[in-house]
Amino acid sequence: MKIVAMVGSNRKESYNMKLVKYMQNRYANKVEIEILPIGQLPFYNQDDELNPPELVKEIRGKIKESDGILFATPEYNASISAILKNAIDWFSRVETVLVDKPAMIVGASMGALGTVKAQLQLRQILNAANVSTRTLPGNEVYVGSAHEKIDDFGNLTDEATIQFIDSVVDNFVEWIEKSVAYESAY
Ligand SMILES: Cc1cc2nc3c(=O)[nH]c(=O)nc-3n(C[C@H](O)[C@H](O)[C@H](O)COP(=O)(O)O)c2cc1C
Repeated sequence: MKIVAMVGSNRKESYNMKLVKYMQNRYANKVEIEILPIGQLPFYNQDDELNPPELVKEIRGKIKESDGILFATPEYNASISAILKNAIDWFSRVETVLVDKPAMIVGASMGALGTVKAQLQLRQILNAANVSTRTLPGNEVYVGSAHEKIDDFGNLTDEATIQFIDSVVDNFVEWIEKSVAYESAY
């Protein structure tokens, strides 16, 4: 099963990136996770959408071929980051490659609430007509106080969080399988 990941932080020591890389390793026997370079996308400009940069075409192709999307969001001023919104905007236009894609969300922040506000907004954005991912309900992964739960080597060290993410990934895999079954039935 092929999952593409959009990580909303371009910071070298990003906890969200570390979390996704941790997931890449931990669940390698269940899903292949490819991290999309959305931090390198130029700002979306409607003037360019019919003749977009190569990177937009390249990432579009990878989204199309994937079985699902993993969103990892930081929280910037009670919302998602511009990097993540920019990517969603690019892939919601001309070719609406996000529509009907199974999606799951994780988020890490140093704050106690661990991206609650950002994730609420992200779910709303993912419901927009030209985005319309099939977002896994519930299964809300908030990694708050991330600096205390992710070590210098990028390992998640909090056992309760590890076990919860294990169960969410299992639910996501099942969600994708159901999604495929639904598509082949109609
Ligand atoms: C511009 C900016 C705004 C932020 N706003 C919030 C916020 O509203 N809530 C929160 O929990 N953390 C906030 N933070 C802290 C981030 O959650 C923290 O920097 C986190 O590590 C960012 O994710 P990353 O490690 O993946 O880069 C903010 C950080 C920045 C740079």
